[in-house]
Parts: sequence; C-alpha cells; structure tokens
Amino acid sequence: MSEQQPTLLVTGASGHLGRRVVELLLEAQAGTIVATTRTPEKLSDFSQRGVIVRQADFDDPESLVPAFTGVDKLLLISTDVLGIPGKRIQQHTNAVKAAEKAGVKHVVYTSIMNPGPESPIVVAHDHRETEAAMKASGMGWTMLRNNIYADMLLGSLGQAIQMGKLFSAAGDGKAAYVTREDCARAAAAALADSFMGQRALDITGPEAVSQADLAKIASEISGQEVTYIPLEVDVLVDNMVNAGLPRPLAEGLATFDTGIAQGLLGDVSNAFEELTGSKPTSVAEFLASNREALLQVADAH
Ligand SMILES: NC(=O)c1ccc[n+]([C@@H]2O[C@H](COP(=O)([O-])OP(=O)(O)OC[C@H]3O[C@@H](n4cnc5c(N)ncnc54)[C@H](OP(=O)(O)O)[C@@H]3O)[C@@H](O)[C@H]2O)c1
Repeated sequence: MSEQQPTLLVTGASGHLGRRVVELLLEAQAGTIVATTRTPEKLSDFSQRGVIVRQADFDDPESLVPAFTGVDKLLLISTDVLGIPGKRIQQHTNAVKAAEKAGVKHVVYTSIMNPGPESPIVVAHDHRETEAAMKASGMGWTMLRNNIYADMLLGSLGQAIQMGKLFSAAGDGKAAYVTREDCARAAAAALADSFMGQRALDITGPEAVSQADLAKIASEISGQEVTYIPLEVDVLVDNMVNAGLPRPLAEGLATFDTGIAQGLLGDVSNAFEELTGSKPTSVAEFLASNREALLQVADAH
C-alpha cells in the first residue's frame, strides 16, 4: 500500500451493507473511496461527497478490470443472488480474478461462519468456493465470516409475538447474531486498516443466544408471552410451505436452523472489538432499540 492514504473500493455500494460501509469510510476520512454498483445513479449523493462512483456488474466480467483499476484494497460484498446453482460462485470468481488482474493487493470478503463442507447451511457452498478462489489468487485476503444478521430476527420474532409462539428447528443450539450495522463497521475497519496479509475473522455479537433466549427477549420487549416450540426440521419446512413459502425456499431457510442446532454459529469472537475498538451490539439491545419495527411486524400478521 502506498505511503499516502490508500484507495479503497466497495462493491455493491447501493446495497444496505455497502452504502453503510461507504458512509463509515467517509466519516473516517479513510482514503480515496471508490464505490462500484450496477446502478451508479443510485449513488449520486456519494459522487457529490467526493466518492468515485463506477459501474461494475459481476455478471459482466469485462466491466470489472477497469472498475477495479488503481485500487489498493477492495471489499467484495457477496451478492444477493440465491437459488441459481453456481451463479454466485461465478459472480464472485469473476470479481476475484478481475481484482487480481487490475492490481488490487488485498480483498476483504463478506463470508459466513464455518463455511466448510460440514456446514448444512444453504449458502455455505458459495462462500466456501469464493474463499477458495481468493486463497488461490496472489492477493492478500480478509474473510469476514459474518454470523446471521440480528436484523433478520425482526421478521421471525415479530411473527412469534403475534402468535405467542416461536417455532424453530434449532433445538437448544445458540447463534451469536450480529447486527448488520456491526458487520458494516467491521468491514469498514478491515478495509481501512493497514493489514495486507491473510486472515479469517468471525464477526459475531457479544454472546450466543438460544431460541428459548430469543422467546424470552421477545416476551420482555412486547409484554406478551412468547413460548419457544422446538420442531423437527421436516415439520418446520411443512409449516412454512403451508404458510405459502415455496418448498425450496423453506428448505433453504431451515438449513440455518440445522446449522445452529449443530453449533456452527455459536462461537463468540472478539474480532469485531479488535477491528473497531468497540463492543458489538447484543441481540437484546438491537431488538429493544427496534421495538417499533418488531411490533409493526407483529401487527401486520
Ligand atoms: N449474514 C446474514 O445474515 C446475511 C443476511 C442477508 C444477506 N447477507 C449477505 O450479505 C450481502 C450484503 O447484505 P445487504 O443487507 O447489504 O444485502 P442487499 O441490500 O440485498 O444488497 C445486495 C447486494 O448484492 C449486490 N449485487 C447483486 N447482484 C450483483 C451483481 N451482479 N454484481 C455486483 N453486485 C451485485 C448489490 O449491489 P448493487 O445493487 O449496488 O449493484 C448489493 O450490494 C448480501 O448480498 C448477502 O450476500 C448476509
């Protein structure tokens, strides 16, 4: 990396996570910031604030090398393309190859905890293959192995509050849920620091919580009794299908429960604090500060 301030690039900068990372880099005056997206017009506010906005689509490999040129460190945000076998691996591999060709020295990637072949979680394979492509490149890398966003709980717990029951196939397993805001903070810090080697960091909340813990937190926040009802995974899938979800989606969602039951998301790491110098937000704090959104979901059901 040059002696002066580095040039840092964020892909997918119009997504929730990407937008927040760019904001944090601007606040920190971390260097020259390049933001890439499929739709540059969505980032006109960033252009006005000095961010270099470029078009880049992982499905269009030709667009990537020019978009990534002149960059020291690049944050590769995993895409939201699910349900098309091999598609996301191809997209991410295109990005990794282009980064290397463009002369990028270090790639930070948003992965998942424990993405090894033992993971039943539907998205683990994509992350594992992307990590393999990064390891096979000549670049330095940081795998940010994010736990499940606590933000995802607003929907499921809102529904549980409405029903008075929280259904899950996670058994007594625990997950160290982390807020999307903290994932953004970790990503901005990992991109802006001077580390150029190779590291894999679990990005987690401050504690692991069980489904019974979540039911208790939901009861406390809503003032309504929520009981945890453990289910077998097949029963959970059938329930979701009966509620209107396509079976492949229901089966995919249920793999997160299986992963939690197997303990793959239960380890608590101090990597967030080491990267950012602050404590991550707990699930209870996050849900309490999003009480209105939680109760709105409950009312809507
Ligand atoms: N840990 C978790 O619990 C959890 C939960 C949900 C998602 N995720 C993962 O974390 C990522 C970021 O989360 P988020 O909340 O910011 O999701 P989001 O708001 O849905 O953003 C989707 C992202 O995918 C990018 N993208 C889609 N197709 C692309 C393509 N062809 N080329 C390049 N980029 C493409 C978008 O970039 P542009 O639109 O700017 O091009 C955007 O950054 C998700 O995409 C997903 O992989 C993790």
